[in-house]
Amino acid sequence: MKRFGQWFLEAESIINRLRFEHSQVTERTKRGVFPAIAINAWIDTKPVGDIYLVNENNEWIVYGVNVLPDFQRRGIATALYRYAENLLNIKIKPSPSQTDDGKAFWQSRS
Ligand SMILES: CC(C)(COP(=O)(O)OP(=O)(O)OC[C@H]1O[C@@H](n2cnc3c(N)ncnc32)[C@H](O)[C@@H]1OP(=O)(O)O)[C@@H](O)C(=O)NCCC(=O)NCCS
Repeated sequence: MKRFGQWFLEAESIINRLRFEHSQVTERTKRGVFPAIAINAWIDTKPVGDIYLVNENNEWIVYGVNVLPDFQRRGIATALYRYAENLLNIKIKPSPSQTDDGKAFWQSRS
């Protein structure tokens, strides 16, 4: 059985191993002229999560966010949001229609 310390170390190393790839971002993207962006999160060669954002009326809204079940509750969605907000220099708005997971996640952000 794993002890708490081992879980903590695994969670830490997962976040440290995360890397991100995103679709092209131009100044026009930031201004909402080509108003969509996709970001994928990888651990080594494994895709573990993604987020899709659309720009509606100058606000960036989450169109979809997913983390593989085995990798949930380890901070990956939080890291994806942080990456997207830094990349676009924005504050993301919640999607108008959310799953239960999405609602629980957003509650933790507010
Ligand atoms: C929603 C989702 C993207 C969250 O991804 P995640 O990587 O697990 O989220 P994080 O680890 O960054 O969560 C941060 C905090 O949000 C809260 N949270 C996230 N998911 C939660 C859940 N299912 N139940 C309760 N709280 C949750 C917790 O407070 C969590 O911190 P903690 O684990 O230290 O308690 C993921 O559950 C998922 O892919 N679900 C299926 C697709 C989906 O429903 N997408 C949302 C569409 S609106």
